[in-house]
Amino acid sequence: MDILPFTPAVARETEALKARMMKVIPEIEWPVHAPYIAAINALKREKNAVILAHNYMTPEIFHGVADFVGDSLQLARLAAKTEAKLIVQAGVHFMAETSKVLSPEKTVLIPDPQAGCSLAASITGADVRLLKQTYPGLPVVTYVNTSAEVKAESDVCCTSSNAVAVVEDIAREWGVDTVIMVPDEFLAQNVAKLTKIKVITWKGHCEVHERFTAETIRDFRDSHPGVIVIAHPECPPSVVAEADFAGSTSGMIDFVAQKQPQKVVLVTECSMSDNVAVEFPKVDFVRPCNLCPHMKMITLPKILHALQTNTVEVTVDAAIAERAKKAVERMLAVPVKAARQAA
Ligand code: 13P
Ligand code: SF4
Repeated sequence: MDILPFTPAVARETEALKARMMKVIPEIEWPVHAPYIAAINALKREKNAVILAHNYMTPEIFHGVADFVGDSLQLARLAAKTEAKLIVQAGVHFMAETSKVLSPEKTVLIPDPQAGCSLAASITGADVRLLKQTYPGLPVVTYVNTSAEVKAESDVCCTSSNAVAVVEDIAREWGVDTVIMVPDEFLAQNVAKLTKIKVITWKGHCEVHERFTAETIRDFRDSHPGVIVIAHPECPPSVVAEADFAGSTSGMIDFVAQKQPQKVVLVTECSMSDNVAVEFPKVDFVRPCNLCPHMKMITLPKILHALQTNTVEVTVDAAIAERAKKAVERMLAVPVKAARQAA
């Protein structure tokens, strides 16, 4: 793809966005991003497309071109609700699949189909069938970070923001005190600490969050006295135990918005702090973090290419989609907050 020129017209058109993002994007990078931001926003309007962006997208995507931003649950709700016929999913493959499962009549594009997830890669539909044979009579609660094939074998899905509510809801419905919860071992262990329901789990891990340790958290506190520590529940339980608060990516944003701490560390993927810092300039973000190589495969040039060529379209086998949809809709019936409109 040709590099787009930074013309005076592009500079004028993107001036307000630049002012917003200068705290988190080096000025020298702006002439590279701005022409793509301008081109994507123009083409998006022309095609009546919406861009759904996860909170881990880079700031130039999150603040520059997204129509809606949120955590996995908020994006799933949005995909089900939007009237747009064309969705560009700025996130990883399972997120685009979830959008397609919920809206089979819409065209869902992913800018890079290789954008995977270590959790989604850790389990197959056959693994879930084996678990069900091993533990008959127990419901399967599946984290949305999985393929449609795995969701199709499940009774209900969950995300990190509704996992406790979903586990308790399905256990009540089935009249059991134990559920199977796959594939994130740490999320399942963290959920089990917050409910009386027992959880049988799987050995899947998020390659971003599993690398944090309790010692790292103690080091943050030693080198930044008074810092507030917020951890994602995909982190090991020993890390969550050291944190002041644990929550999904949107739970973290809400916490910062409500408490406005002087100094905070978000124990999660790197783009989170950049994206939140734009909205809360008075909060000091301590920035040790881990990058998700899959999320970082989504770039402005790839989003533009997706819109220009209507590729790569995400498809899901109709029979699998129908069964997966039941599990996702069962989850969506458990009430929580709506997605945020991008600023
Ligand atoms: P949430 O945005 O739902 O917290 O999920 C985090 C994540 O790792 C998504 O891949
Ligand atoms: Fe998967 Fe972790 Fe990356 Fe999210 S951050 S996409 S859970 S590997």
